[in-house]
Parts: sequence; structure tokens; C-alpha cells
Amino acid sequence: MPNCLYATATATSNTLPSLSAQTTESTSHPLLQPLMIGSLQISNRLSVAPMAGVTDNPFRRLCKSFGAGHAVSEMMTADATLYAHKKTLFRANFAGEIAPISAQIAGADADKLAQAAKYQVDNGAQIIDINMGCPAKKVCRKLAGSALLKDEDLVKRLLDATVAAVDVPVTLKTRLGYANGDENILRIATMAQEAGIAAIAIHGRTREDNYGGLARYELIRAVKQTVTIPVIANGDIDSPQKALDVYAQTGCDAIMIGRAAQGQPWLFRDITHYLTTGDTLSPPSIDELKHIVLTHLQALYDFYGEYSGCRIARKHIAWYTAGIRQSNEFRQAMYCEGSTAGQYQVVEAFLSAQQADDNGSNRATH
Ligand SMILES: Cc1cc2nc3c(=O)[nH]c(=O)nc-3n(C[C@H](O)[C@H](O)[C@H](O)COP(=O)(O)O)c2cc1C
Repeated sequence: MPNCLYATATATSNTLPSLSAQTTESTSHPLLQPLMIGSLQISNRLSVAPMAGVTDNPFRRLCKSFGAGHAVSEMMTADATLYAHKKTLFRANFAGEIAPISAQIAGADADKLAQAAKYQVDNGAQIIDINMGCPAKKVCRKLAGSALLKDEDLVKRLLDATVAAVDVPVTLKTRLGYANGDENILRIATMAQEAGIAAIAIHGRTREDNYGGLARYELIRAVKQTVTIPVIANGDIDSPQKALDVYAQTGCDAIMIGRAAQGQPWLFRDITHYLTTGDTLSPPSIDELKHIVLTHLQALYDFYGEYSGCRIARKHIAWYTAGIRQSNEFRQAMYCEGSTAGQYQVVEAFLSAQQADDNGSNRATH
């Protein structure tokens, strides 16, 4: 098993152009220190949360170029009959990815989950992540994702089978529990450690919470005080200050960021800078934003091709341009573009027009 730090994966067909934004700052804060997940060393403790439809290959690479040490793939079904589906093939494509490659699998059948783990390791995964956090009805109806938390015996069988199936670290991504008042994360985390799980990422909400209310960090802290495996805190971290706050509240080993990275993958650079200097970086200038967006678009087009590339890029463009003057009109026009060339052109034109009067004040801070 490779034990490498930021090494490039074997296949390199979809190389994201390197961004000048790559961080070079020193790493003194504990969250900037390397983290061991099993025998694998992660360069720092800033992680990109798995997000279906968002954290695809180009986005993970982009976040890593801004300093994220770890990024988890979109969830992939353990149902082998779907391996050849176009969507699964894209999700299982790790070409050009910066190590370590972490593949998330979801399922409720121990044998199938174990097979899926093996399949992803053969496919290049260096970490297998089990999804027990997804609240989506489609996933929970099959008693997968967060619905699994209702059946602790089944959780144990799934963890045991997956850990036994592969010789790479297996991590668990989960929530506080299924229902409020019945948060079983302490038992789940203890069970995970006993099963040989190498790290546990916890979203500080239950399935019942869905995304409502605020993430609760006390139970993440309780888990940290109970187990010895790395605990990764997740939920509502949307700024460098919040990252530090969650670290202080939970005593976690690492933090994981999901939604706040949408449209601002440079958040990992901001956090690195803040933890290093105590200063808050200004949002990227329009000039830099344009470079980031166009680089990301090109990577999406290269990865997905003409049809899907254009469609998948739309939500990223919308996130990037949120809050910029006259961006509503721009987005309406952008959605009408059906080709990658047309889309690229309207984005470039819009951002170039913004450059003329950019004094830093028309950038959204999200
Ligand atoms: C669009 C979207 C897709 C998600 N997909 C997954 C997924 O595939 N697997 C998973 O474990 N969690 C998934 N999540 C949950 C996130 O990983 C994360 O736990 C959650 O968003 C809370 O973190 P945040 O407040 O930083 O966004 C998803 C979340 C969002 C918003």
C-alpha cells in the first residue's frame, strides 16, 4: 500500500492546470500537521467532505490544490450491477488525483459492501470510506446511509466485513444518530474502533435533523474523549474562525468541510493562512476568481465531455458568481448556453467585465 504525501496517482489523463494559488505557508497549528489514517499519512487535517454531485474528481483536485489534505469521493453504490453505469464510472474515476485517494461506498449488505471495497481498492483507492451519514430518502429507503444507524448489529457486520476485505485503511462517515434523543454515536464510534476502522468523520446532526438547526459539537467532543482513532469534526464549518472554533470545542483531530467549499475551494487556503498568521485573507480578486473558475470549467469539460461537462459546470458557476453585481442576469443567460464553448465564453466575458471595476468590493464573501 502506498504511503505517500501528495504523490500523484498513477493515471494522469485529466490533469488540472496548476493554480498559482497553491499554498506554501508553514504548518505550525495542529490542524496543519500531518495526520495518520491507519498507516497512511495525510499532509494536514483539512478535509473535503464527500458530496454527491459536487466532490467529483475535478473538484477534489481543485480543493487539494488550495491546501486540503484529504478529500472523499462522492458516494458509490455497493450494488455491483450499477458499476458500469455512466454515473458510477465518473464517480470511480480517480485519474490525476492527488493522493491519498479516498473512495466512499454505501450499502446495507455486508458481502456487497466488502466486494465494493475490494473493487475500489483495485481501482486505485488508498482509503475506503463507508457512508453512514447520508440522509437522502433514496439511500435511506434501502436502509443505507444514515438509516443504518438504527440497526447497530448490522453496522457491526458491515464494518467487520469491510475492514476484513481490504488491506487499506477503512474510515467511517456518520452522523450523531438516527433520531433526536437516541443519539448513539458513542456506541457506533466504539464499535467502529473495535472493528478496526482507522478514522471516523462525524457530522454533528442526526438523520432527523437532516440539515436543520445548528451542528452540535458536544457529542463529537465526547467521541474524541472516548476513542483513540482520529475523529474528524464536520458540520457548518464555513470560515477559518469557525474551523478554529470547532477544533477548540471538540478537540478533534481534523475538520471536514462540505457546503462552504462550494464556490469557494480557496477556503482551505484561507484556513491555512489564518491558522498560520492569525490574519484573514481577502476574498480572491476578480482576476484570480476568473482564473480559478475558467481552470475549473476546463477540468470539468475534460473530465465529463461536452454534454455533461456543460451541465455539471452550471451549479459551480452559479456558486462562484453568487453575490457579484448583476450576476442574476448573467446566470439566467449562462443557463441557456448548451455548449461548453458558449458557456466558457459567457463566463469569461462576464468576469472580464467585472475586472474593469474590481476594487475588491464587488466580490461576494459567501
Ligand atoms: C450536495 C450534498 C451531497 C452530499 N453527499 C454526501 C455523500 O455522498 N456522502 C456523505 O457521506 N455525505 C454527503 N453529504 C453530507 C456532507 O458530507 C456533510 O456531512 C454535510 O454537508 C455537513 O457538512 P457541511 O455543513 O460542511 O456541509 C452531502 C452533502 C451535500 C450538501
